[in-house]
Amino acid sequence: MPEIEATPYWLDGNFAPVQEEITSFALEVEGAVPPELCGLYARNGANPRDGHSGHWFLGDGMIHGVALREGRADWYRNRWVRTPRFEGRASRNPLDLRGSVANTSLVAHAGRTFALVENALPMRIGPELETLGYEDFGGRLTTPFTAHPKICPETGELHFFGYSPLPPYLTYHVADAAGALVRSLSLLLPVVFDMGLALRGTMPFAWSDAHAPRLGVLPRGAGAEALRWVAVEPGYVFHVGNAYEEADGTLVLDVAWYRELWRGGPSAARFEPARLRRWRIGPGADRAQETDLDERAIEFPRIDERRTGLAHGVLYAVQTGAGPDESEARDGALVRYDLAHGRDAMHVFAGGIPSEFAHVSGGSGEGWLMGFVYDRVRGASDLVILAAADVAAAPVARVRLPRRVPQGFHGTWIPDA
Ligand SMILES: [Fe+2]
Repeated sequence: MPEIEATPYWLDGNFAPVQEEITSFALEVEGAVPPELCGLYARNGANPRDGHSGHWFLGDGMIHGVALREGRADWYRNRWVRTPRFEGRASRNPLDLRGSVANTSLVAHAGRTFALVENALPMRIGPELETLGYEDFGGRLTTPFTAHPKICPETGELHFFGYSPLPPYLTYHVADAAGALVRSLSLLLPVVFDMGLALRGTMPFAWSDAHAPRLGVLPRGAGAEALRWVAVEPGYVFHVGNAYEEADGTLVLDVAWYRELWRGGPSAARFEPARLRRWRIGPGADRAQETDLDERAIEFPRIDERRTGLAHGVLYAVQTGAGPDESEARDGALVRYDLAHGRDAMHVFAGGIPSEFAHVSGGSGEGWLMGFVYDRVRGASDLVILAAADVAAAPVARVRLPRRVPQGFHGTWIPDA
C-alpha cells in the first residue's frame, strides 16, 4: 500500500493559508482603541497561492493589516506580496535576489515600508499593502537583505546583513537615517546549507553536529579586522530579542534559544521548543556565559524598540506549544518578562492562539502590545491590544476581524507620518 502522508503542520488548522484577499471597513471593537494609536499594524506570513508549499517558510508572502485612527479600527486588508515568484515569472535560481517570496517580516524605515525575507532584496509596500517593487538602494545592494534588521534609536540607522552559500557568505550593511546605503562590509551557527535539500524544493538547511556555533562581535564602525569570534553551546537562534553593552564592556544578548533544530532536515516537525536564554560575553572573552532565564517555551521575543541596542529591562514573548504541530492544542499566552527585577506576568488567551505581538510606544506609560489572536470558537481572528505594563489585565481592545488570520511570522506598527 502506498504510504499516505499526513498534512504537514503548516497546511493544517490555523496554519493553513487563506484563499482570498478581502477588504473590510469600520471594524467592530470590543473595549476601546486608544486614540493615540493612529497608523497601521501589518503582519507578514507565508500563504502559498496554490495552497501548497514545501515548508512553512516557503509560501508566498501575505500581509494582513489593520488601520487604527482616533479610536476607530478603520479597515482590515490582506494582500499577497506580488513578487515575480507569486506571478509565476521568477527564475528558479536560488541565488536570484528577485526570485524569492517576501513572506517573513516588515520594517518601516526612512518613510518606506519593506516586506522582507532572508534571501532576497527588500520589497516596497504601499499604505494599503500594495506591492511597489524591489528596492536595491540605487543598485548598491548586491546581497540579500535579512528579514531581521535592527534600527538604532539614537542614530536612526538601519543595520542589516545578507548571507549567501557563496563567498563572501556574510555581508553587513548600514543604511543611514535618510535611507541611503552607506556601508557594506564583507565578513556561523550549526545549521548548514545543504544543496541536496535545495534541489528537493524544501528549506536548504539541516542540523549538523560537525559545526560549532559562534558569535561574531564587531564594534560599530570598525573594519572586518576587528571581528572577534565567541563560542556558545550548540543550539539555534532565529530571534534575538535585544543586545546591549554594559558599562564594563560586557555584552548581553537575550535570545529565543533552541537546543537543536531540524535534525534530519527542515520538515522535522518535532523539536524541543525555544526558551529565553541570556548570553553574556565579558570583555575579551572567547566564550559566552549562558543562562536560561525561564522554563517556558517561548518565541517571538520583542522589546520597546526605543531600547534597541540599549539595556531593555523588559522583554515580551509569546508562549508556544510543545512544537509547531501541537501549538493549537492549548491556549496560547503572552509573557512580559521584567528582567531588571526578576518578575514576570502572563496573559492567557482563553480559546485563542496568538501570533507575534509587537510593542507600540506612546501615551505616558509603557505603551501597548499588539498582535493577532485566532479565536477557536469564532473561527476568526482578533487584533488584540494589551497594556504593556499590565499584560495580565483584560485587553484594552479587541478588534474583530471578518476572517481568520493564519499563524504567520513578524508584524510591525507603522505610525501615520
Ligand atoms: Fe523571524
